[in-house]
Amino acid sequence: MSDEIKKGLAGVVVDYTAISKVNPETNSLLYRGYPVQDLAANLPFEAVALLLWTGDLPTEDELKQFQEFERAHRALDPNVKQAIDLLPTDCHPMDVGRTAVSVLGANHPKAEDSSPEAELEKAKALFAAFPAVVAYDQRRRRGQDVVEPNADLDYSANFLWMTFGEEQPEEVVDAFRVSMVLYAEHSFNASTFTARVITSTLSDLHSAVTGAIGALKGPLHGGANEAVMHTFDEIGIRKEESREDAAGRAKAWMEDALAQKKKIMGFGHRVYKNGDSRVPTMKAALDRMIAHYGRDEMLGLYDGLEAAMGEAKDIKPNLDYPAGPTYHLMGFDTEMFTPIFIASRITGWTAHIMEQRASNALIRPLSEYNGPDQRELPNG
Ligand code: SDX
Repeated sequence: MSDEIKKGLAGVVVDYTAISKVNPETNSLLYRGYPVQDLAANLPFEAVALLLWTGDLPTEDELKQFQEFERAHRALDPNVKQAIDLLPTDCHPMDVGRTAVSVLGANHPKAEDSSPEAELEKAKALFAAFPAVVAYDQRRRRGQDVVEPNADLDYSANFLWMTFGEEQPEEVVDAFRVSMVLYAEHSFNASTFTARVITSTLSDLHSAVTGAIGALKGPLHGGANEAVMHTFDEIGIRKEESREDAAGRAKAWMEDALAQKKKIMGFGHRVYKNGDSRVPTMKAALDRMIAHYGRDEMLGLYDGLEAAMGEAKDIKPNLDYPAGPTYHLMGFDTEMFTPIFIASRITGWTAHIMEQRASNALIRPLSEYNGPDQRELPNG
């Protein structure tokens, strides 16, 4: 293999972006220059979405206008519900998300209009509509009736209202808001780069988001938050167990898994090699949820796995590791975790779609051929 080949494009810089800066040396993440921790501590997710799309924090009036738009565009189009209802309730919810975005695209009057104004309008509409896709899908799988959006609630509180059918405590809503801010954007990750490749052919925004959803589904990427919960379930969650006992079982599970050379979801990262800059903020939110629901054994499982992985391979958790148990405590079904990631990352994906379009070049790398030399057909 030519030493020119960078498998997985590891370490390859392919373009500029002004949207976010991931810095493994300083273990930091900036959204348009603002540390993500500051944004997570102070702003509604709607404001972070506007920051990613426009490059600046919104004025009070701009935020108010967007929040009014978002509240007015939450309800699912009837044909989106019909399309979802055509899908089996045991298919993966990422397939439901992918399908819903395709229908939302087909519905949009400006689907083929790639002007900056139309792209921003479509991004805002997707942002507003997608929570209802997640909520509708979880409820139909549970045999529960649809819960219509509540325009009195902000984005995060309404997301939980539509999913669970009752308003959630402020502390839970805030932890959910923090997770949405942290999941929103992360430079040229696999799903975002997928969206940029599709956009580079001058295809439309919804096609690019649909492709990005396909990439996010994989457990090496967004699917990891669901896979983390499968790990906890495999170890066994025992509500009355002491934190110490849970940690002991978790460590034993990890040591066994690593002895079998298993890849442990929720750990490691292509760019961060000394820990994911978002983990401390998400772990603090998880700690608040563990205290809120009185679930100390979850902390034991979390700490036990982390300690064993650290001792064995010095590999640190990524954002998916604290995010998974947080969503579990909130009451989301495990297979809904990555669709929640879609809802957040729609902001980053569409910001990159707009940036790619504004300074486009068709993305088409080369390959080094290592197949058979030229040869004749057997009959000459
Ligand atoms: C996300 O890119 C982004 O920004 C993504 C993301 C975002 O916000 O968009 O941050 C979101 O996708 C986070 C990552 C979620 N994925 C997982 O949790 C899946 C588990 N993680 C691994 O598959 C892995 O860490 C990757 C894929 C995330 C990154 O792997 P790399 O950089 O390609 O490195 P590698 O797989 O080649 O691993 C290097 C070494 C290997 O050891 P050797 O085989 O060479 O001895 O580290 C080991 C790996 O085996 N290793 C792991 C491991 N991660 C790396 N071993 C066990 N479990 C792991 N999780």
